[in-house]
Amino acid sequence: MNDKLIIFDTTLRDGEQSPGATMNKDEKVMIARALEKMRVDIIEAGFPIASPGDFEAVKAVAQTITESVVCGLARTSDADIDSAGEALKPAAQARIHTFIATSPIHMQHKLRMTSDEVVSTAVKAVKRASKYTDNIEFSPEDAGRSEIDFLCKVIESVIDAGAKTINVPDTVGYSMPHQFGETIKQLIERIPNSDKAVFSVHCHNDLGLAVSNSLAAVLNGARQVECTINGLGERAGNAALEEIVMAVRTRKDVFECDTGIDTTEIVNCSRLVSNITGFSVQPNKAIVGANAFAHESGIHQDGVIKSRETYEIMKAEDVGWNTNRLVLGKHSGRNAFKTRLKELGFEFHSEEELNESFKNFKDLADKKHEIFDEDLQALVTDSLHDTSYERIKFISLKVNTETGEVPAAEITLSVDGNEINKQSTGDGPVDAVFKAIESALDSGCELLLYSVNSITGGTDSQGEVTVRMSKNGRMVNGRGADTDIIAASAKAYINGLNRVMGVDVREHPQL
Ligand code: KIV
Ligand code: ZN
Repeated sequence: MNDKLIIFDTTLRDGEQSPGATMNKDEKVMIARALEKMRVDIIEAGFPIASPGDFEAVKAVAQTITESVVCGLARTSDADIDSAGEALKPAAQARIHTFIATSPIHMQHKLRMTSDEVVSTAVKAVKRASKYTDNIEFSPEDAGRSEIDFLCKVIESVIDAGAKTINVPDTVGYSMPHQFGETIKQLIERIPNSDKAVFSVHCHNDLGLAVSNSLAAVLNGARQVECTINGLGERAGNAALEEIVMAVRTRKDVFECDTGIDTTEIVNCSRLVSNITGFSVQPNKAIVGANAFAHESGIHQDGVIKSRETYEIMKAEDVGWNTNRLVLGKHSGRNAFKTRLKELGFEFHSEEELNESFKNFKDLADKKHEIFDEDLQALVTDSLHDTSYERIKFISLKVNTETGEVPAAEITLSVDGNEINKQSTGDGPVDAVFKAIESALDSGCELLLYSVNSITGGTDSQGEVTVRMSKNGRMVNGRGADTDIIAASAKAYINGLNRVMGVDVREHPQL
């Protein structure tokens, strides 16, 4: 049995389908670099036909990444396949992933196609994709609710047509682990040419079973798992990469395979994705949650001090925790700053970018005595991306709060290069700031969520604020970090507004 478990990361594609998780080109490239550093085998960079922005982002990832395979998603139409083929042209190693639904409910209501038409359309798409690459993946969408005999027929046909990876998606997160494992076993046993392809799985988390279903499939012969950092993804998300990788690594006695992932990069990658998307990680999340390795009860602490294995099945440092040592301070120089960021996977594109980030670092070091990796990551995630599309810039903020008085805020912004100053009062200081911004912009956005987290411990920690807002049915997240949480709130709101204005209209692959 093949003992390599291939990790296919779809944070940049299915992860991005999470409402509000839209990423721009620079952000996608930043995450792709971190995934490559972690030795992900395949990076699904996007759905090129969805919009010109998506096409450019897939192309930019293809131009940057050399070690991992870069993949683009395409439905079965010629236009989709050609768009993916074109976007992936610069890739050192490219894969086209094409899919069509195979469940009765999808074929009847969504596609309005007969099962024979679905088979011939799938075969035609695989053949067209082979004009661009011989690395072709095919997915029978909604396989979790498809009939097994029909799945066997479609899959046999697409393997004959040239598909090298067969991905079996539980699109709506409906499967139970024992059933899903059995499906994979049956497919591999019954399809005559199954030995010509790698079997993969792609599970959604609607019933909280995405990781369990994926692992059941691995036990039954699947050798590729599709997953996302922090389990980001459509609705309840996809299987979490960090959980799959660590389950297989920790329980080598159970699994006859292992991944090539450098697990010490997991926490870094998790923080980067969370910073960029504004989806914070719940504290009790396995592997990457702040409490994942924290022991509160006295009995547990005592046990861990005597011997770590009493209550710990993994080492925190093996997944990249405990690396948040004090790295830099007020007196650190540009070189130390640049070197540490390089170790964290951030590259500066120009001297100006380095200078700007270093200035922000010095400003932060003036306010905050100890600068940790988390601080640096939050700082550069804000500054290391293309800001040219941002029409609104934060300049300064004055806030007045006093017991018994109505909170008041005065904000100065630059909007399309023009400086605007507005004042407002509110129920609290944050409300006053948001109202002052709105009195300048009248955006028409609805604020759906506001949350604050501290990036590190201590009262001098930077506060990280996430807002979720929507306009005309489009949802975005905005985030901002600052040692002053009211300023962080203003930055998050402005970041959200810039995103609302920058988001282009895009097609959803599964509609
Ligand atoms: O969930 C799903 O079925 C998908 C396919 C496009 C593979 O994301
Ligand atoms: Zn999916």
